[in-house]
Amino acid sequence: MRNNIGVIGHPINHSLSPVFQQAALDYLDNKNIFEKWDVHPEKLEEKINSFRKESFIASCVTLPHKQNVIALIDDVSDSAKAIGAVNWIYNKNNKLLGDNTDSSGFIRSLTEKYKFLPKDKTALVFGAGGASRAIIYGLIKSRVKKIILCNRNYDKAHIVSRELSTSKVKIEPILYNRDSLANYAPYTDIIINTTSLGMAGGPAPMTSPITSELISSKTFGYDIVYSPLITPFIKEFEKSGAEYGTGLSMLLYQGVEGLEKALNIKAPINVMQKALDAL
Ligand code: ATR
Repeated sequence: MRNNIGVIGHPINHSLSPVFQQAALDYLDNKNIFEKWDVHPEKLEEKINSFRKESFIASCVTLPHKQNVIALIDDVSDSAKAIGAVNWIYNKNNKLLGDNTDSSGFIRSLTEKYKFLPKDKTALVFGAGGASRAIIYGLIKSRVKKIILCNRNYDKAHIVSRELSTSKVKIEPILYNRDSLANYAPYTDIIINTTSLGMAGGPAPMTSPITSELISSKTFGYDIVYSPLITPFIKEFEKSGAEYGTGLSMLLYQGVEGLEKALNIKAPINVMQKALDAL
């Protein structure tokens, strides 16, 4: 059996999803191969249409397709609608349903792996792209008290604030400079990096959006960048003696959530974690 479950992206070679998803399928004695589909944007519609068959199970969606698939599928979940991005497509009764498990995966990583409970906490989020929207949506669903949003382009932070703030949780955009950060960072419960700063091969691999003197040892740090595992941002938390979580865990849990919804099973998290650890 083939072509029933996999991941679409372009490029796709770097994707780690097949590694831990295949380990889960094998453990579950599911005979499918979790495939890597390299889909050029011009071929996206054709690929999505090829999913329209009874045997199709699900596809993980990665860059650059997370927004563009929305117009091509039949329905999107509330989270995907609010975030404006889809990272999983499931076959539900022969309809293609788009979902976003980056937000729920992030929250599960935070609460299940790191035992950090966001309810009634204040959060400082760096970045205002798609990943930031997913994290913010998850934090709001988990009933944080307040979100401070810091982005180089202030206008983008303002737009995210306008679109995602609720009557209960306000998102306050702040300027991306040291003085502005000094008023918030030392007093916040959790700081999350959703920018590409620190990412190997990215625009600024050696840079952290914040330095240790603005980080309290009581603040939890979380970087969604997972390559390298210990990013410049995480190093600043180490310097402050603060605890932290790494992005590989969010990658794992978005996959755990996606597989559970795709197959209607409980995912073997330890098996999936071990497959990632072995890399
Ligand atoms: P994604 O959808 O994965 O979140 P994105 O939409 O490209 O990716 O967003 C990248 C984020 O990293 C943005 O918040 C971006 O800030 P701007 O909105 O100001 O562009 C941030 N970012 C990227 N390079 C940066 C840099 N050198 N300094 C500060 N922020 C940076």
